[in-house]
Amino acid sequence: MQFQLLQKETSRQQPALRAAAQLHVAIICDGNGRWATSRFLSRSAGHRAGAQAARNVIRCAPHLGIHTLTLFALSSADWKRPPAEVAAILQILREYLEEETSHCLDQGIRLNIIGRRDRLPAPLREAIADAEALTAKGSKLHLRLAVDYSARHSLFQAASKFYKATDLSAEAFGDVLAEVQRGGSTDVDVLIRTGGEQRLSDFLLWECAFAELFFFAKRWPDFTPKDLRDIVREFEQRERTCGGLPREASY
Ligand code: IPE
Ligand code: MG
Repeated sequence: MQFQLLQKETSRQQPALRAAAQLHVAIICDGNGRWATSRFLSRSAGHRAGAQAARNVIRCAPHLGIHTLTLFALSSADWKRPPAEVAAILQILREYLEEETSHCLDQGIRLNIIGRRDRLPAPLREAIADAEALTAKGSKLHLRLAVDYSARHSLFQAASKFYKATDLSAEAFGDVLAEVQRGGSTDVDVLIRTGGEQRLSDFLLWECAFAELFFFAKRWPDFTPKDLRDIVREFEQRERTCGGLPREASY
């Protein structure tokens, strides 16, 4: 893959980020298990460390021109894991919602969960509903946590509704998808996957049509705000043609 990010030493004196950037950054937060195993810790300790990495990244995102941040917390495919591991992830998520909602409120963060809710434990569903209701007016950052999420499932659900629609445009389909997902459906500018694997794993397949991809070797608990800042910086150097011609090209 061409898009491996070169983790080069960056100078301490970096130019300011382009202030006007309004980005949707989506992250496949992978590598918690390997991070823990390499330290002789339990996998759930890896997920706890991953939650802390998420807190750090969420805090810095608005300062990097990010208006929407979508984190892949639990894939629908992850139900294949041992029940105790899935239960630990769901418990950590519930604690996160209960502990961080007031911080989200203070910081103007609107929080939504995208994904299926019908298979989640009732107390978690309640914590989600409370967090979403309390933070609904946040306008600095739209934080979306993908939980029991499968892009194919969302697309299938949207298609099942869309066949009855009268406006058959792609925009109208995007609106139906946004409704199905509850937390909207904005095009992704930057897709990051930590942990060294280079695949999409059924994440935001519609929204990533023109995303710039960054596959990052570090495991998620080691990912820092500086790593995110470096990626945003590299993204700003890339030329996005979305099918058009590069600036230099002439016909
Ligand atoms: C990703 O880390 C976090 C979740 C799926 C919740 P993994 O648990 O997939 O970590 P590895 O890939 O086994 O290292
Ligand atoms: Mg993994």
